[in-house]
Amino acid sequence: MKKTLLQNGRVIDPANGVDAVCDVLLAGGEIAKVGTTNKTDARGAEVIDAGGKIVCPGLIDPHVHCREPGYEDKETIATAAAAATAGGFATICCMPNTNPPLDNDSAVHYVLQQSGKANLARVLPVGCISKGRDGKELAEMGLMLEAGAVAFTDDGNGVGDSMVMQRALQYSSMLGVPLMQHCQEPSLFGGSMNSGPVAVRLGLGGIASAGEEIMLRRDLELIERIGAAYHVQHVSTAGSVEMLRQAKADGLNVSAEATPHHLLLTDAACMGYDPNYKVNPPLRTAGDVEAVRQGVADGTLCCLATDHAPHTREEKELEFALAPFGIIGLEVAVGLYAKALIEAGYCDWPTLIERMTTGPAKVIHSPLGTLTVGRAADVTVINPKKKWTVKVDQFHSKGRNCPYNGMKLKGRPVMTIVGGEVKFRL
Ligand code: DOR
Repeated sequence: MKKTLLQNGRVIDPANGVDAVCDVLLAGGEIAKVGTTNKTDARGAEVIDAGGKIVCPGLIDPHVHCREPGYEDKETIATAAAAATAGGFATICCMPNTNPPLDNDSAVHYVLQQSGKANLARVLPVGCISKGRDGKELAEMGLMLEAGAVAFTDDGNGVGDSMVMQRALQYSSMLGVPLMQHCQEPSLFGGSMNSGPVAVRLGLGGIASAGEEIMLRRDLELIERIGAAYHVQHVSTAGSVEMLRQAKADGLNVSAEATPHHLLLTDAACMGYDPNYKVNPPLRTAGDVEAVRQGVADGTLCCLATDHAPHTREEKELEFALAPFGIIGLEVAVGLYAKALIEAGYCDWPTLIERMTTGPAKVIHSPLGTLTVGRAADVTVINPKKKWTVKVDQFHSKGRNCPYNGMKLKGRPVMTIVGGEVKFRL
């Protein structure tokens, strides 16, 4: 039986309230022991010195665009999974805006098959809410769930039709699966950056906060009546954070995520017309960034999610108004979150790790994201002191659309273990 012993790390397991310097023993692909270990435990094990490092459950990213099938020039399931493990992620949830979209059970099977072939991070498929992601007719949620889908979303598009959304919530609630929404009212969508003075100055069309907040407000009205589990993707406005805070206080079954870019960047970054800053929802104002940070700190936003969205170099070299939306993030996420949240004084490592493990695991109803004995041996080792510089040409991802190239960061995953196997080691 394969054994690995991680010794003397700062073990942080938020699900079990653990934050202590101790050992973690992995055996036969499972967590075997957390605490003090002895010579018998170490016998036959690969012993890894984790002194000075954080040892935590394998990180989970609930929002990744793997692009396969259909856009393999941007990314594949294998390259996304490699980028994931290099970023400390043992599990990623892949979005269904592929070609064809993941809107049926065969497509879900295909993702799982490709994930198995890649044999790196676990890739969990998120199916479409509507057939073809066109917001008109519900996709076969039941069949996709049986095939292994963990949630549903039309990400890239919000579901505009209230009747379709109501039915989707009724079905997902019956199936016990979360619905994830890209909150953007379609009739209010246009433009390529945040609506405001910067867009006016640049002569670019604006995307107003109202488009996000109106859809969120409508959905909260629906879930209050239906009671379904509802998850808001990439929250970008202060108004959304406040609505979610209130909805949680009112006892609604809502969860939400924040991305690195909405925690770090404002629309002022678009001043140079660099399409690497073009993302949907767009970079907003300093007040919005502050609210998103506060939301993560107080748990209103229970997950961190990269919204890793690779595009080809040619596409991102188009002028700002014509380039596609999206920023990659898997290989820089931990350092960026540390910068936005820990270095800026909003939270500590245990809270950050909670938002990257227990938080997303709860959303997708997964037993992963913990070091509980008997669970899958998914473990991430982070060196919180490691200073490094982002170099996009060294990424495992095919994507190079990363606005952080050259940025100096502190804190980096140095090992990712999935099912007891070391998949990445720095
Ligand atoms: O910026 C984005 N890019 N936002 C989305 O919602 C979709 C994503 C993509 O697929 O490129």
